[in-house]
Amino acid sequence: MHIPTLIERKRDGGVLSDEEIHAVIAAFTRGDMPEYQMSSLAMAIFFRGMTPEETAALTDAMLHSGTMLAWNEHDPMRVDKHSTGGIGDKTSLVLAPLLACDGVWVPMISGRGLGITGGTLDKLESIPGFRTQLNEVEIHNVIDQVGCVMVGQTAGICPADKKLYALRDVTGTVPSIPLITASIMSKKLAEGLNRLVLDVKYGSGAFMKTEEQAHQLAQSMVTVGRALGVRSSVRLSAMNEPTGESAGNALEVAECVRCLKGEGPQDLEDIVLDLASAVAVSPRVDLQEMLRRGDAWVKFQQMVELQGGNVEALEKITSVHRAPFIAELKAPASGMLTRMDAGGLGYVILELGAGRSKAADPVDFAVGCDQIAKTGTHVHAGDVLLRVHARTKRTLDHALDVLPQHIEII
Ligand code: URA
Repeated sequence: MHIPTLIERKRDGGVLSDEEIHAVIAAFTRGDMPEYQMSSLAMAIFFRGMTPEETAALTDAMLHSGTMLAWNEHDPMRVDKHSTGGIGDKTSLVLAPLLACDGVWVPMISGRGLGITGGTLDKLESIPGFRTQLNEVEIHNVIDQVGCVMVGQTAGICPADKKLYALRDVTGTVPSIPLITASIMSKKLAEGLNRLVLDVKYGSGAFMKTEEQAHQLAQSMVTVGRALGVRSSVRLSAMNEPTGESAGNALEVAECVRCLKGEGPQDLEDIVLDLASAVAVSPRVDLQEMLRRGDAWVKFQQMVELQGGNVEALEKITSVHRAPFIAELKAPASGMLTRMDAGGLGYVILELGAGRSKAADPVDFAVGCDQIAKTGTHVHAGDVLLRVHARTKRTLDHALDVLPQHIEII
C-alpha cells in the first residue's frame, strides 16, 4: 500500500476500496502512518466526501481498531441512543434508566462537552464520587445488576477514533459527514448493540445548523448502521432553544432528578419518550407510566450507587454545587416569548465556565442557567426569564449584559 497514492486518489475525487481503508486505519492505529498523512487524507475526505460503501468501510475499520463489548447469546437485547448534542440536552440521564426498566440493556458510552454543547460525562461527574471510567469487567458488573451503565470510552474501544478525532479537532476536518458518521457509529457499534436511535439536532445550538445537513448526517448514519447489522432509527429535532429549563452540569442533574420522578419538564419528557420508544420493547404509553411511577428514578439511583456516586447528594445537587452569584433576568415587557436562542445561551454558559474551549480545560459544575422560560409562552413584565449561576461577579454581570440580545419578546 502506497499511502501518498491513496491520498492523491481521494484528493482527485476517486474511491478507496474496503481493503485500502482497512489498511490505512490499521497503519494509523499502529503508528505506522504519520499524522501528516492522515491529516492530509482527512482533508481530502472533507472536500471530496465518501461513498456510503467507503463510509461503512471506514466505520468498520475504526470499530475493529480496538475491542468491542462482548455479550452472551442469552443476554437481553442491547439498545442505545446517540445525540449529536445541544444546549441543555440531558436526555441520556433519564433515557438509560428508563430503558433498563423495560428489560433491555443500555451499555451507554458517552462523551464530554466540547464547544457550546454539554457532555453527559461532565453532568454525571457533578455527582460526588461518580466514576465514569470503568473497565470492561466493571461495565458488565453494573449492567448485570441494573440494566444500564453510563461510562466514557475505555482505552480499548475504537483507539483509531481517539487518534483521528484529536487530529481532526486541530486540522479543520471535524465537520465532514463521512468522518462524523464513522466516528460516532464506530463507538456506538463497539457497544455490541441490537438497536440504536439517533437524535440528530439542527439549529443555532447544534452542530448541524440546517435541517438539510442534519438529514444528510442522519441518512449517512442509518445507512452505516444497516450495513453493519444494527437496526438504527432517527429523530430529527430543532435545537433553537435549550432542552428543558436548565443548562449547566449540576443544574441539569437536578432537572433530570425531577424528570426521573415523573415531574417533567414536558419537552424533556417528550424527547425521552420519543427516543426510548424507538428502541424499547414496550410502547410509549407504558414507558411514560414507568417514568411517572418513579421506576426509572429507582434504577438511576442504583446505577449511581454502583458507579461510586453519592445517592444522598442527588436530591441536593444544587446545594452541593452552589454558585456564589445567582441572579434573575426579568422580562422587560409583557408579550409572547418568541426567542430564547440556544446558540447564544450556549456561548454565555460556556463563558460562565460550564464547558470547555480545549479538551483539557476543567469544567465548573455549579454554573449555568436555570428556570429558562420556554418560547411560545406569554410573559408579563418582571417575570423571570431565567436565572444565571456564576462563579464571580464579573462573569455574572457579563452574562446579564449579553443575554438580552438572545431573547425576544413581541
Ligand atoms: N462526536 C463524535 O464522537 N465524533 C465526531 O466526529 C463528531 C461528534
